[in-house]
Amino acid sequence: MAQDFLSFVNQIKSERPDEFVSVSGEIDPAHAITATVVKTEHETKKRPVFIFEKVKGTNFKVMTNIHASRHRLAMSMGVAPREMQKKFLYAMENPIPPKEVNTGLCKEVILTGNEVDMMALPQVVHHGDDGGAYITAAISFAKDPITGIYNCAYNRLMITGRNTTSIHLTLGKHLWEFHQTATAQGKPLQVAFAIGVHPAIALGALSIGSVDEDETHIMGAILEEPLEMVRCETIDVSVPAQAELIIEAEISPVKTVEEGPFGEFTGYSLGARDREVVEVKAITHRKDAYFYDMNVGHLDHMLLSTIPMEANLFRAVRSMVPSVKAVRVPSPFTCFVSIEQRLKGQGKNAIMSVFGADLYIKRVVVVDHDVDVFDDRQVNWALATRSQPDRDLVLIKNARGSDLDPSTAGDDGFTSKWGIDATAKPLLKEFTPRHKFSEGVWDSIDVKSIIR
Ligand SMILES: Cc1cc2nc3c(=O)[nH]c(=O)nc-3n(C[C@H](O)[C@H](O)[C@H](O)COP(=O)(O)O)c2cc1C
Repeated sequence: MAQDFLSFVNQIKSERPDEFVSVSGEIDPAHAITATVVKTEHETKKRPVFIFEKVKGTNFKVMTNIHASRHRLAMSMGVAPREMQKKFLYAMENPIPPKEVNTGLCKEVILTGNEVDMMALPQVVHHGDDGGAYITAAISFAKDPITGIYNCAYNRLMITGRNTTSIHLTLGKHLWEFHQTATAQGKPLQVAFAIGVHPAIALGALSIGSVDEDETHIMGAILEEPLEMVRCETIDVSVPAQAELIIEAEISPVKTVEEGPFGEFTGYSLGARDREVVEVKAITHRKDAYFYDMNVGHLDHMLLSTIPMEANLFRAVRSMVPSVKAVRVPSPFTCFVSIEQRLKGQGKNAIMSVFGADLYIKRVVVVDHDVDVFDDRQVNWALATRSQPDRDLVLIKNARGSDLDPSTAGDDGFTSKWGIDATAKPLLKEFTPRHKFSEGVWDSIDVKSIIR
C-alpha cells in the first residue's frame, strides 16, 4: 500500500471525485476554514475533503476533513466499512515492525536553526473563543525514556512563537508519562510531530493499549507492510518518511505557558491552563506540502478516533466476556456494550473491563445481544425496562478520567464513573418475554394491498 498522503488523496480524487472540493479564493485561516467545513455539512449533509488553495499569510495549502467519512477511512484500511474493526483488531494482534529508510518525501525541504518559523505555517484558529492558532493534526512520535518503545498520539499544539508551541498532554496518558520520566531524569523529552499522513498511519496512532505496545508496529499492520521511518535531523527520533511535514522538537522539563481557551472535542470551550512548552528544532517537509488541519471536534476528528477506541474496548471486554457482541462509543466518555450473557454477573464484568481499558470512558451501559447498541432508542428501552438502579448501578468514585471533561472543572479529570448493567436478570431467557405476533398472521398480511 502506498504510504504517502497524496497517493491516498489521489485515490479519492479518482474513485470518488464528488467527495472533493477545491476552494480557490483566498481564505482567512483564522475562523473561516473550520466554519466553512461545518456549515457545508449543516446545509448540504455532505462531508467532502476540502483543499484551500490560497490561505492568507502562508504559502501552504490547507487540506481538511479527509477522515469525516467511514467509507474513506475504510478505503484507507483496504476493507469494507463493516470490516474496519476486525482489521484494526487483527493489526493490534499482529503488529509489523517498521523499517528505517535513508530519506523520504518529508525531507525535500529541511529547515533548522533560524530558518525555523512556526509563523510561516497556516495560523488556523478553529472556534470563536480560541486563544490562538492551533496545529490540531500533529501526531507525536516519542520514545519511552526507559524502554525506548515508541508512543504515538495526536497532541494539539498552540503556536506561541517562531520556534515555540504549547502542548496538551492528557494527564495520565502515555506521552504525559514519558514526559514525567524525562523530567525526573532532568532531561527534555524529544518528540517529533507528523502532519499530513496516510489515514492508516493516523488510525494506528490512535490505538489505545498498553504503553508497551508500539503504535508504529500497528501502523505497519494496518498498511500490511512495514512503516517506512526516517531519522530526524536534530533529535534521536524517527518519523514516517512519506509524511507531508515534520516538526522536530523537545518538550521542556520545566517551562510552562498559558494555553487556551480552546474549543474541545467535547463541544465546550475550556478556559486557559498552564501547559508544557515545546521548543522546535527543525521543520522538514515535502516541497509543495499540504498542511493538514484536523477539523477538531467535528466528524473529521470524531470518526477517526472512534474506530481505534471501539476496537480496543471490544478486545478488553472480550478478554473477560468472550460472548461480547458489539461495542460502540456514541459520544464523549460513553460506551455501549452488548453481550450474550451466559452467566449471571457478566454484565458487571463487562463494565469493569471497559473502565480498565480506556481512561476517557466515564459512563458504560451494558445490554443483551437482542439490543442494537447502534440504535440509541433500543439502548434507552433496555435501560428503562431491564435495569434497577439500586441493583445494577456501578459507581466508582475518585478515579482518573479526561482532564477535558468540563464537569470535573477545577479538578482536571479527577472524576467519578458509572456503569449500568441493563441486561435482563437473571438472564435474558428467564426474563419477561417480549410481545410478539401470532404465528403466521404477520406473514399473511399484505401491506401493499392495504396502503395504496
Ligand atoms: C484530532 C485529535 C486531537 C487530539 N488531541 C489531543 C491532545 O491535544 N492531547 C492529548 O493528550 N490527546 C489528544 N487526543 C487523543 C489522543 O491522541 C489519544 O487518546 C491517543 O490514543 C493517546 O495515545 P496513548 O493511548 O498512546 O497515550 C487527540 C485525538 C485526536 C483524534
